[in-house]
Amino acid sequence: AQEAQTLKAQAAELLRAKGAVLVAHYYVDGHLQDLALETGGCVSDSLEMARFGRQHAAQTLVVAGVRFMGETAKILSPEKTVLMPTLEATCSLDLGCPVDDFAAFCDAHPDRQVVVYANTSAAVKARADWMVTSSCALEIVSHLKAQGQKVLWAPDRHLGRYIQEQTGADMLMWQGDCIVHNEFKGLELQLLKEQHPGALVLVHPESPRAVVELADVVGSTSALIKAVVEGTQQDYIVATDNGILHRMRQLAPGKKLIEAPTAGNGATCKSCAHCPWMAMNGLRNLIAALQSNSPQVQVEEAIRSRAEGCITRMLDFTA
Ligand code: 13P
Ligand code: SF4
Repeated sequence: AQEAQTLKAQAAELLRAKGAVLVAHYYVDGHLQDLALETGGCVSDSLEMARFGRQHAAQTLVVAGVRFMGETAKILSPEKTVLMPTLEATCSLDLGCPVDDFAAFCDAHPDRQVVVYANTSAAVKARADWMVTSSCALEIVSHLKAQGQKVLWAPDRHLGRYIQEQTGADMLMWQGDCIVHNEFKGLELQLLKEQHPGALVLVHPESPRAVVELADVVGSTSALIKAVVEGTQQDYIVATDNGILHRMRQLAPGKKLIEAPTAGNGATCKSCAHCPWMAMNGLRNLIAALQSNSPQVQVEEAIRSRAEGCITRMLDFTA
């Protein structure tokens, strides 16, 4: 703990000296989340990370999360330096949606509005009409449906199915998934719910249908945190990456947080519901990035300028 405090103080001093601001996701190491809040940065879901990075005056953004979050920051602020603790931190949704295959899918369906989840590469976003995150996907697809548009959706099949069921929109789906949320189990969650009859069940919509069907609240990481803070219940079953528990505990210290089951036997497994790529971010590689001014996120200008449109359309729509 003492060592973490020393590293945190060193990172805070480097952020200050460089005039840099830290933008962190709720799934990263708690020390990074605390550091972001203590130094005037932000901890949030992917929509607010994009908004915060774009509006902040700092010329250096340090993004603690996964690569698409760094790329989104760079696409929106090409004049800024965007550092990440590591560029190796990817996402199974991004990996599962290679741009060539995706472009062929779009070419085969030119009559559809292309809506992509934030968890994709800059090159995939460059082919899209809209980017969405889990906090605005429902609103944006409802809007498209009201306009009589048909949708081509990529890449998360669970989120896509959830949005399709909620809106009734005509959606053609890419079949990607998140390796973390895909592991939550409906049957075991049902059993856990029976053991905690008063608990509110909070589910991220990247989870399978059987899990979403048991939810009291389905939403983005920010929406799930809000549900804990505002809920009148004492117990909460949380079906999302367990990195989120750090912020939930800080904001709702008296409440009991129970991890949703990921293993087939119903046991909760500490390392299962945690994204291996989010876990690559730590105080040490953050400090190294600030000291060496690398690695920097770079996005080729031809791709960046095309990708920007779908992100700003989302930000303007949700402003
Ligand atoms: P949020 O936009 O809800 O923070 O989700 C991002 C993510 O990667 C979830 O796995
Ligand atoms: Fe991607 Fe899932 Fe990790 Fe989120 S938790 S970054 S969706 S692999």
